[in-house]
Amino acid sequence: MTTEALKGELLAALEAADTPDGVEAVRVQALGKSGSITQLMKSLGAMVVEDRLRVAPQYQALREGVSAAIEAKKAAMSRAVLDARLAAERMDMSLPATLSTPGSIHPISQVMDELSEIFADLGFAVAEGPEIETDWHNFTALNIPPEHPARAMHDTFYVHPAGGGERMVLRTHTSPVQIRTMMAQKPPIRIIAPGRVYRSDSDATHTPMFHQVEGLVIDRGIHLGHLKWTLETFVKAFFEVDDVTLRLRPSFFPFTEPSVEVDVGCSWEGGTLKVGGPASSVVGGSAPSASWLEILGAGMVHPKVIANCGLDPDEWQGFAFGCGIDRLAMLKYGMTDLRAFFDADLRWTRHFGFGALDVPTLSAGVGA
Ligand code: PHE
Repeated sequence: MTTEALKGELLAALEAADTPDGVEAVRVQALGKSGSITQLMKSLGAMVVEDRLRVAPQYQALREGVSAAIEAKKAAMSRAVLDARLAAERMDMSLPATLSTPGSIHPISQVMDELSEIFADLGFAVAEGPEIETDWHNFTALNIPPEHPARAMHDTFYVHPAGGGERMVLRTHTSPVQIRTMMAQKPPIRIIAPGRVYRSDSDATHTPMFHQVEGLVIDRGIHLGHLKWTLETFVKAFFEVDDVTLRLRPSFFPFTEPSVEVDVGCSWEGGTLKVGGPASSVVGGSAPSASWLEILGAGMVHPKVIANCGLDPDEWQGFAFGCGIDRLAMLKYGMTDLRAFFDADLRWTRHFGFGALDVPTLSAGVGA
């Protein structure tokens, strides 16, 4: 076979090879130990000088030509493999990224956490009760008489009794948690109970569902002074002001005796109401910038309520308070419309909400 014919044959085989293994087989067939070109090169040794000088360049050219073709085919193949991988693993960087929407803590939740933190410092535990409450826990045990206006249909949401039992209510305040706590644990008791409450009311400053925090202390020898100190300590820590004046006004609740309404001294600063300020600017309300803001109802737990829970009122006394959380949040964080709290408008929550990693707003804590 002429070198030309052999070359044609090998190049055709190479052409036909469509895998790296196929190319390798052609290489072995041509240039391997007993490959056809290797055989030709070996045969040079046995030739007479004239013949060798004549054919050696042809063999040499044949070997170089075939080697180069094999190398070129190998390179093309690995390029094709790479191209295929690049195509398969291609990423379209022009696609819009998946939006990450970090959540935020609702101001009410934030304020509840702050309340729990402050009262925990004062030794209060957090207690809970059901939102669908029995008439007895919500009214009767709290010494609210049957004819009391708070029981009227237009104030209270009543729930049909399940299976003909006692009529239930959506609790109208957190005070039934006082009853549940006193019935479940022995004094001394120090609890707060933050949670949702419901009343049939709706305007710019009232929503049918809102939040309260109840406070209850039952022990021996508790008096109004303990209540006042506790509330002062709480207001200072919560609003982060040292200069706070509280005003206790006589009031009435069926479940406390005596009962008080508690106002906090505020001053107007450039159109916004600010909690606190020197006593002289608020006491008596004489200064034009001064004003009192009612923040909660409180009093000494009525002996009848203590007895209703199976405790001896001659041995145990205590105080209780109930405070609107939404109001506190509005006052502290400068929100103006109560209804926005419950509109579920994410723009509002993003504006007023708190990130999970926000530093606690209570920089000082209690007693700093
Ligand atoms: N439960 C009362 C209310 O909702 C508040 C209150 C609680 C008053 C505890 C006195 C003692 O208005």
